[in-house]
Amino acid sequence: MKSFPLTDSAALAELVCRSALPMDTPAILELTRHIWNGHDYIPVVWQDWLADAEGFLAVAEYGRRIVGMGKLTRLEEDEWWLEGLRVHPDFEGRGFATHIHRYLMQHWQALGKGVIRLATASKRIAVHRICAKLGFQKVAEFSAYEKRTETGGETAHFTPIQPEEVEIALDLALASDLLPLCFHLIDLGWQWARPRLSYLQRRIAAGQAYWWRGRSGLLCVDENKEDELKSQLICWVACALQDLTEFLVDFAQFAAQSGYQKAAWIAPLQPPVQRALGHAGYGAAWDFSLYIFEYRPAAPYRRP
Ligand SMILES: CC(C)(COP(=O)(O)OP(=O)(O)OC[C@H]1O[C@@H](n2cnc3c(N)ncnc32)[C@H](O)[C@@H]1OP(=O)(O)O)[C@@H](O)C(=O)NCCC(=O)NCCS
Repeated sequence: MKSFPLTDSAALAELVCRSALPMDTPAILELTRHIWNGHDYIPVVWQDWLADAEGFLAVAEYGRRIVGMGKLTRLEEDEWWLEGLRVHPDFEGRGFATHIHRYLMQHWQALGKGVIRLATASKRIAVHRICAKLGFQKVAEFSAYEKRTETGGETAHFTPIQPEEVEIALDLALASDLLPLCFHLIDLGWQWARPRLSYLQRRIAAGQAYWWRGRSGLLCVDENKEDELKSQLICWVACALQDLTEFLVDFAQFAAQSGYQKAAWIAPLQPPVQRALGHAGYGAAWDFSLYIFEYRPAAPYRRP
């Protein structure tokens, strides 16, 4: 069994974090080949991340070797996301990821404001420990559920939300019983955030936002590109809790009619939601869950 030495302070003293550069690309591609049996998504997003002028992409050098990386992403001025934390397997367990995370947080404190979050798997103990050490709180837990779709059946009850309806749609979403059950978070595409007008406007502009059964509910969708079967994903759902089973049945029908083989949702792990998923015929797709961690700086001290 692998042992995890206490922080290697001699090695840490030689670890240099800096802003990523285009010339780091070959080294990052080499590093990520060793992550998750070569299925890391970083090679796909790396060029976009390098070009992201609003966020901050960092690498960590040890000697002349790139051994790690991480990224700050700006979702909105006061809502940020931390992603892409990586350490080469040859250098794990020396405190390098902790150091990179701390470096990114120092940058965020200078660059950003509001709140910063990250997602990590329930089994990724190293990241849980880093979060605990750096003052992050676990605020949500999600896991994926899915259902194979069947063609035929009645027409699904979803109609596109028009741009001029955005405020009414947001009001409906904010008043939904489901929002607290979703930990007040929506899925922006592997990034979770508080619902707000700009996020809904983007979904509407992309043709991914729908009313359900008149104005009884709201649905935003995305496509899951990682799955072998073409699958449509719920990113944002709002309706009365008592209607959720019917909503989910309708969604599977809608996904089928839109040409998808699967209907899926990275859903909050909350008993009423899991019951509705079960009643609607959805099954668990993962044997782990996703934790969302959040960091909010303490309110500044005010003199009484
Ligand atoms: C997760 C990862 C970034 C950790 O990097 P690392 O440099 O080994 O992490 P650190 O050395 O800073 O360790 C952080 C803490 O976790 C502990 N730890 C490290 N690996 C661990 C493991 N597999 N199980 C339990 N604890 C572990 C360390 O002892 C340390 O805890 P401590 O400070 O309380 O002693 C690295 O393993 C990696 O890149 N994995 C693949 C990609 C990935 O999963 N990224 C995270 C996505 S959210």
